[in-house]
Amino acid sequence: MSVQSLFQPFVSGPLTLASRIVMAPMTRSFSPGGVPNDQVIEYYRRRAAAGVGLIITEGTTVDHPAANGYPNVPRFHGEDALAGWRKVVEAVHAEGGKIAPQLWHVGNVRRLGTEPDGSVPGYGPMEKRKDDQVVVHGMTQADIDAVIVAFAEAAAAAKAIGMDAVEIHGAHGYLIDQFFWEASNQREDAYGGSVQGRSRFAVELIQAVRAAVGPDYPIIFRFSQWKQQDYSARLAPTPEALEEFLQPLAQAGVDIFHCSTRRFWEAEFPDAPADVAGLNLAGWTRRLTGKPVITVGSVGLDGEFLKFMAKTDEVAQPARLDGLVARLEQQEFDLVAVGRALLVDPDWAVKVREGRDDDILAFSRDALGNLS
Ligand SMILES: Cc1cc2nc3c(=O)[nH]c(=O)nc-3n(C[C@H](O)[C@H](O)[C@H](O)COP(=O)(O)O)c2cc1C
Repeated sequence: MSVQSLFQPFVSGPLTLASRIVMAPMTRSFSPGGVPNDQVIEYYRRRAAAGVGLIITEGTTVDHPAANGYPNVPRFHGEDALAGWRKVVEAVHAEGGKIAPQLWHVGNVRRLGTEPDGSVPGYGPMEKRKDDQVVVHGMTQADIDAVIVAFAEAAAAAKAIGMDAVEIHGAHGYLIDQFFWEASNQREDAYGGSVQGRSRFAVELIQAVRAAVGPDYPIIFRFSQWKQQDYSARLAPTPEALEEFLQPLAQAGVDIFHCSTRRFWEAEFPDAPADVAGLNLAGWTRRLTGKPVITVGSVGLDGEFLKFMAKTDEVAQPARLDGLVARLEQQEFDLVAVGRALLVDPDWAVKVREGRDDDILAFSRDALGNLS
């Protein structure tokens, strides 16, 4: 099998990538005070130096008091954090790589006591109370407007410090996805109800980001059917529903869709007509929108990622790439995001290119303990 197709350039508008390999966004929690430090710079530089075409950074928070949900997550606002990110950009560019920040608001997942101000509750589509205390603040129109402005400002900052694109985190049951999903959005105003209503927050946010970065700057949008609150959840149970969901996002200004799945080889709609029954979520998204797409999920490894988020001694072993390469060659997707294989092994891409399969590292939770 030749892996050559993974190492072909990719062009979309002003974005030119040297390979089809994308580093998937992965929260690493190594940025005390929210500032990416020298260790973070070196972590991303090494992946760019070893053949990753596009790095999508770990989720990085927009400027809103409830955006953050976890310790030591880097910010994407404030002079100190943006100065750190600027150094990351310079280091990646010096290696011939490209980079986009993943802009993030965790929404109702935030717990009281979380950095930076522990008295701020989660913010979400619906209010939640526990023992008479508001643990999630139901967002008003003013809150919605403020979060949209925060994303637009972060995108403008990304462009100003030389980032090559931005990725909006609309997946995995975080804020934007909480608006999409019927189970977490029972609003009775214009931001709830129908698919159009539940997508309105995302559409307005994408439009604001587009206005902030101008017509040509690449906007990537990550979405998923599954939610961390429910792995079997589905926003779109049919191709028709997926089209209805995606079209307004594409029209609002998305250039590239990042279709998050746990196993890239799974058919999204297996009951579809035979010629398309094998397509994964990225394949359907490309077909329905005509936009370039990124696939993701267990590339190069034999076990999916969620079981590694809990304590486990399991090890995911390197897996062959034949199936992936065949799908890429059939143009089911344009780009391939790699998570854990690149987290544990900065040289994963160059080892693949050079056929050094025996040198590729297995993944275990131990890899999460350091930023090498
Ligand atoms: C440690 C870790 C942190 C993650 N953090 C994020 C994140 O910040 N944003 C995001 O969209 N996905 C996040 N993910 C999901 C990955 O981007 C990716 O979709 C997932 O790991 C599947 O790819 P893989 O099987 O190649 O690891 C994370 C995954 C891992 C393992």
